[in-house]
Amino acid sequence: MGGRHTASEAFFRIGSVSGLVALGRALGEALAAGAGLRRKLILGFDGELGAGKTTLIGGILHALGLDAPVTSPTYGLVHPYAVRPPGLKVTMEVLHIDLYRLQQASELDELGLPEEFPGSPSEAGEVLLVEWFANARGRLGKPDLAVFLGHANPGRTVRVRGHSSSGSEIARRLGRVGHPDVATCEFNESCVK
Ligand SMILES: Nc1ncnc2c1ncn2[C@@H]1O[C@H](COP(=O)(O)OP(=O)(O)OP(=O)(O)O)[C@@H](O)[C@H]1O
Ligand SMILES: [Mg+2]
Repeated sequence: MGGRHTASEAFFRIGSVSGLVALGRALGEALAAGAGLRRKLILGFDGELGAGKTTLIGGILHALGLDAPVTSPTYGLVHPYAVRPPGLKVTMEVLHIDLYRLQQASELDELGLPEEFPGSPSEAGEVLLVEWFANARGRLGKPDLAVFLGHANPGRTVRVRGHSSSGSEIARRLGRVGHPDVATCEFNESCVK
């Protein structure tokens, strides 16, 4: 694994769907601002059915410049996008993948992903957004950024953890989201909006 880094973690309490979309947008902006433009990145999303993985990814894709609704690629497993983040001249390849229906991790070989990811630096950013990442059972390595969503009563919780310097950079860039339904929490559980 490449070099040392300071792992970074962020925790949020989300009160509405639009709050979750706003957090997704902030993630997309953090991605476009730095790490996502320099190398291939894997973001893994885990959390039970309906926790909000697709909703969060929709926010990310829209912040990266996608102008279309985002639905889960549950049947074909992969939705590929070429997006151009606002204000930037580069195109990013983004693959939205949903492993919910993956029967065995070896099926990932048929998608050609293990050859490509994790890979060598490419000119444009290449990003994998993987729902039900745990179903890959290690076949995709550790994600640069692991995102865990949970049901809270009410709302949702989101924990973001960097496993590489690029992933941690994204987590550190998140800060306050500036949406009334998104609270950023410290480990001592105190949350501020
Ligand atoms: N505070 C909230 N944040 C996010 N989603 C919420 C919230 N409250 C209710 N919801 C609902 O939760 C659902 C989240 O669905 P979504 O498809 O994003 O989840 P998912 O984790 O991708 O599910 P799946 O495991 O089926 O792929 C939506 O129907 C949304 O309206
Ligand atoms: Mg989904």
